[in-house]
Order: sequence, then structure tokens, then C-alpha cells
Amino acid sequence: MSPMPITTLFVPLADVQADWLIVGQYEEEELAPEVAQLDARLGGTLERLRQAEDIAGKPLELTPVRDCQNIAARRVLVVGLGKRAEAQRSVLSSAAAAAARSITGKELDRVAFVLPVPPPGLGWEDVAVAVGVGLMHGSHGPGLRKSKPVRFSPKEVALVAPPAAADEVQRGARRSEVQSRAVALARELVNAPPCDLYPETFAARARQVAAAARVECTVLDEKQIEAERMGALLAVARGSDRPPRFVVLRYRGGKGDRVLGLVGKGVTFDSGGLSLKTNEQMLDMKCDMAGAATVLAAVGAVAELGLPVNVDGYLAMVENLPGGRAMKLGDVLHPRSGKTIEVHNTDAEGRLILADALAYAVDQKVSHLVDLATLTGACMVALGADVAGVMSNNDPWQERVLEATRRAGEKAWPLPMFPHYAELIKSAVADIKNTGGTRYGGAITAAKFLQEFVGDTPWVHFDIAGPAWADHEGADHDAGGTGAFVRTLIELARMYAEVKAD
Ligand code: BES
Ligand code: MN
Ligand code: ZN
Repeated sequence: MSPMPITTLFVPLADVQADWLIVGQYEEEELAPEVAQLDARLGGTLERLRQAEDIAGKPLELTPVRDCQNIAARRVLVVGLGKRAEAQRSVLSSAAAAAARSITGKELDRVAFVLPVPPPGLGWEDVAVAVGVGLMHGSHGPGLRKSKPVRFSPKEVALVAPPAAADEVQRGARRSEVQSRAVALARELVNAPPCDLYPETFAARARQVAAAARVECTVLDEKQIEAERMGALLAVARGSDRPPRFVVLRYRGGKGDRVLGLVGKGVTFDSGGLSLKTNEQMLDMKCDMAGAATVLAAVGAVAELGLPVNVDGYLAMVENLPGGRAMKLGDVLHPRSGKTIEVHNTDAEGRLILADALAYAVDQKVSHLVDLATLTGACMVALGADVAGVMSNNDPWQERVLEATRRAGEKAWPLPMFPHYAELIKSAVADIKNTGGTRYGGAITAAKFLQEFVGDTPWVHFDIAGPAWADHEGADHDAGGTGAFVRTLIELARMYAEVKAD
């Protein structure tokens, strides 16, 4: 995790000492007044660039101005913010990330970002969080194992704002620091190679993170998992020589007895098992623990922020391999809930381990449930690679969770859960089977399977198979683990602390 701090500055722009002073520019607008003042010291360079349409304010447009005179900063970078009316949190975050990515190829002491005046609907704190997280995201290398780093985190990241906004911006800076560390942790865990990160080491890491954040952490080993009757999780785990782990995180910051339960799929490598994946399909399957990484990072951040809320995290950790004791097609599994499951495809392993994890969470009497899982390729067919599918047994709860995604600036969209989909997972032999038997509606039949194990507890399922992992780098992100939905879970916990009603 990065120790790089986010500081705040409330001084005229010309006085900001920095290696880079980053300023935003809205499309089809003049230079903002405080930027025009800065530009006066620069002899009107920025205005000339704007007149020449070299600075047009298009989203993610970057215009570096090096070797600056008469101002305290060495260089200025103008980043396009697009049209003001469309400048949502995600736009501001992306702009900051793209700016940071473009300049952190060498070592820097201080990077300062001049917060734009909040667009309609947002306040200074929102802008500070969005920009702060974006800057950190773009400054932070992907945590790869290269002998030469590709990116250097600056020693300090500063947010610059008018003095009148000081309180809000300071609160936002603190929140973005914690959020950014959490996002970086999730990315690092997802990027860790499966030879290093497997259930035992993942659980050990969870212990460390929990200890640092003062979160209670219990790690169940194979024997204890057996004692908890998690027959479906164990069946998946048996294909590997590496034993499974089940991690329970417990943070108690709230007064009442309402508990938000977060469940994560932690398949540290998914070969498909006997229903073996092709080489191409298997290549990135170290990412299959992203749900568990997201939950771990979020619970840690919620505790660090000291939010007045009670949160449990349940992380189901296994490897899905085709070893000699691997589960077979036609096997009938006995999960914790007692509902029997016929195995039709060993590559539909995520729903098997989640069946036990969700049932366990329900037995701990959590009030509301959210699970995150890289569950189906079908979800990527439905929504594309950048949008999570959201499925639920409870409309009001789903609406609150979707509101959290919007506040976090992350992309998720609901898929229907009509009762008739449940026909597709009926089994001739057992109570249910672990596939829908057709590729059509695969994300939904997977969710319908999970629904069998949550009872009446309000529950939302995130299928993050697409957004958890980026195949290619983009202007505002690296290839690999993305840390997607860490921010959403933190926002959700904030909302959960505020609203008392169900
Ligand atoms: N981990 C995969 C889903 C996945 C696919 C995640 C691509 C990220 C990128 C999951 O365990 C899986 O294999 N799902 C199967 C289900 C099928 C056998 C019913 C799938 O999507 O093909
Ligand atoms: Mn699979
Ligand atoms: Zn999987």
C-alpha cells in the first residue's frame, strides 16, 4: 500500500510549489478566473493555446506546459474535463487519473491539482474525493513484478482549492486517501500471481489488513470449514492440493444491531476444474478472487474511516483445479443449507462456494447482504466488459445499492430476476443443478442459483467478471486488476450508517 499522503493547499495558484500544477478545463468555456490569474503570470500562454484550440477541454485531453517562469510551479498540465453539465464524479476521477498517469513516468516530489469549481449537483467534498482518488489511482503503479518500475508515485499529492472550501476539501482529502489505499490494495491482490496468492497466503494477508485496521478477523481452515458443513465449497477445493480458507471479518462501529454483510468470491485461480478452460480463457484467471479482494479492502477502509456502522466480510477462498480428487460431473453436493446440488459443469464453481458463504452469512444474522463475484462470462456478453451486472431479491435494497454505485462513480446495471428463470436450474437428480443448461441468460441463472441460499435476507449480487479486470491499459487506467467497486462498498457503508430504515 502506498504511504503517499494527500495534502491540501489554500493559496493563489501562482504560489503553489510543485513539479506539476494540474488545472482542469471545461469544454466550450473560458479559462476559470483563478486559472486566468495564473495565466497572467505566464504571459498569456494558456489563453493563446485555448485560442488556437490546443486546449479545447475535451475529456481526458492533456496539454503540458513545461519550463514555466514567474510562478512557483515548474510545469503546468491542463486536463480536459468535458462539458460542465456532464462532469460527474467518474469524469473528474478519470481526468485526474489520466493526468497523473501521463506525468508519473519519472520521480516527482509534489503534484498539485487545482480542484475545479463543483459542477451542478456536486459539492467541494465530492470533487475532492473524486479527484483525490483519481490522482492516486493514476500515480500508483499496478504493483507488477518488473525489475524496473513503470511508474513512480510522487512523494506528495496536493489538492488546491479556495480558502472558503477548506473544511470540505480537507474532509474529502482524508476520505480519498483511505479510499485510494483500499483501491490500490484490491488491485495489488488481483494482480498478484497465483503462485504467490493462494487461499493460505490470501487469508494471511487478510489477517494483516484486518489487524492494521483493527477489524476482528477469524480464519477457518479446512477442518473448521468441514465442521461448518460447507460441502459445496469443499467439493471445489478438493481439486487442488492447496487447502481452502474461509475468512470472517467483523467491524463494529454502529450502535444498533443492524449488520451489513459483504461476501466475496475468492477463487485464487480458476482453471475450470475437469470442465477445463482453454488456454486463452484461463490466462487471466488469477483475477477470480477479485470479489474477495474488494470486500477485504472495503471493510478495512470502513474501519479506518471509523464509520458508525456494523459490517461483516465473508471471504471464500479456494483454487479450482482438476486434481485427482476433483469434483466430477454428476456429483451431488451437500452444501450448508441442505439443498442438494448436482454438478453439471465444474467451471461453474463460483456459485458453489458462494452458496456456502451466503448461507453462512445468513446464519450469522446479517441484516442486508451484498456479494461480489467474477461469476460469469455471460454477464460480459450482456453488459460489456466495463459494467457490472446487479441482481437482487429485494427492489428497495437494490435501489440503495445502485445509488451507492452512482455516488462512487462506478458503472453497474440491473438485470431481471423473473421467477421463470429458476426453472432452468432444476435438476432431475438433486434439488438444483449448477448451470442453466444454456448460454442464454447465464448471468441471471447464476444469480438465481445464489438466490436459493439467501432466504429472505435482502440481497444484492454484483457480477464483476468484466469490470474487475482490464485487458488493456487506457488513458486513465493500467491493464490488470482495477479495484472496481471498492469505492461503491465504502459509499454503501456510509449510506448504511445514515439511513435507519430498511
Ligand atoms: N470465473 C469464471 C467467470 C469469468 C469469466 C470471470 C471471464 C472473468 C472473466 C467463472 O467461474 C466461470 O467459469 N463461469 C462459467 C460458467 C458456466 C460454466 C456456466 C462461464 O462464464 O463460462
Ligand atoms: Mn469457473
Ligand atoms: Zn470462476
